[in-house]
Amino acid sequence: MNPMTFAETLTGALVMAPMTKGSNLPYRRLCVELGARVTMSEMTVARRLKQKRKGEFALIRRAPDEPFFGVQLAGTNPEEMAWSAGLVESRGADWVDINFGCPIDHFTRKGLGASIGRQPNRIRRLVEAMKRGVTRVPVTAKIRLGWNDDDRNFLDQAKAAADGGADAITVHGRTRNARYRLAADWDAIGQVVRAVTVPVVGNGDVLFPHEIGEARARSGCVGVMSARGVLIKPWLFREATEGYLDLDGEAREAIYRRYVALALEHWGDDEHGRARVREFLRWHVGFWCRYARRRDDGSWPTMQQREDTPVLRSRLEALLARADDAALDFVTDALLAGESLDPGRAPAMHEAARDTDLEAEG
Ligand SMILES: Cc1cc2nc3c(=O)[nH]c(=O)nc-3n(C[C@H](O)[C@H](O)[C@H](O)COP(=O)(O)O)c2cc1C
Repeated sequence: MNPMTFAETLTGALVMAPMTKGSNLPYRRLCVELGARVTMSEMTVARRLKQKRKGEFALIRRAPDEPFFGVQLAGTNPEEMAWSAGLVESRGADWVDINFGCPIDHFTRKGLGASIGRQPNRIRRLVEAMKRGVTRVPVTAKIRLGWNDDDRNFLDQAKAAADGGADAITVHGRTRNARYRLAADWDAIGQVVRAVTVPVVGNGDVLFPHEIGEARARSGCVGVMSARGVLIKPWLFREATEGYLDLDGEAREAIYRRYVALALEHWGDDEHGRARVREFLRWHVGFWCRYARRRDDGSWPTMQQREDTPVLRSRLEALLARADDAALDFVTDALLAGESLDPGRAPAMHEAARDTDLEAEG
């Protein structure tokens, strides 16, 4: 694949973000069925591949129906990263991405993820090494704006990645310390676009289709990546081409059921497989319940804030909007059992759960 073709692939694309747990293979397949054409694996630790860990090899597996699949690698050692890049290429990845954004202490303390961004030279060396490790596929870098507000070194990071030979750069428009507290800074993403000659994919806060065009217009990025948006509504990919879809509870239930079918196909419809499916399904249901449709006054909910009074048109939609454990378990078990989601059989919501829910959302 030459870089020109890769740039074309990214141009206008809504890219499915790399997400630990969220970008599991059956969820990626669901997104492909709903229109995704560029997908990415969960973060995969290069050292664990080197150690031949089965769980890590499962993460780099490509689904046969994925049109353009990237594997994201995390690591600090250039040799290990180069070797892993070659490995994932030989296993069918269409491109290899490097994680320079993971904020989690467990990883940053070991010098992985966002901590690498503090020393842009290390970004350059890792990209260079990985470029040497592959024969055909593009290598990309996913960065943040910096470590914190006092250290917004995103231009240095982006230039280092480009100098190292990165074929594209993804910018998540927040610093490591900001986590999700602040809105993504699309103007900063625009600065990266103007500072490098390689294609830039912007990332942060995209939940509705009109936001994709706005983000591109504001920043000039070639493509837009979404993480939480596609966890909350996997049909965002269809919306990216068709415009806003006002799906009712039944239509959403059908999509969730399709995930169950794909997950059972992947993990197996036996006791062990169903336990895995339940674990993932319960996790996904925790995101699906955050869906809110366009408000009646025509304005749009945002990802940063939970809707106080979401517009609900049926008892099913009211059930799907509940975020208390009892409801999430009920929805999960009914979907897994193939039973209809009957709001009449749902457990009552305790006042305590109501309060916890509000506190948790802060
Ligand atoms: C559940 C979850 C898991 C994530 N795992 C990864 C990961 O493995 N690698 C990575 O680069 N970013 C990861 N991220 C960050 C996203 O890729 C993305 O950069 C961030 O969520 C901002 O995009 P959003 O505003 O669309 O959610 C994760 C995000 C979420 C919500």
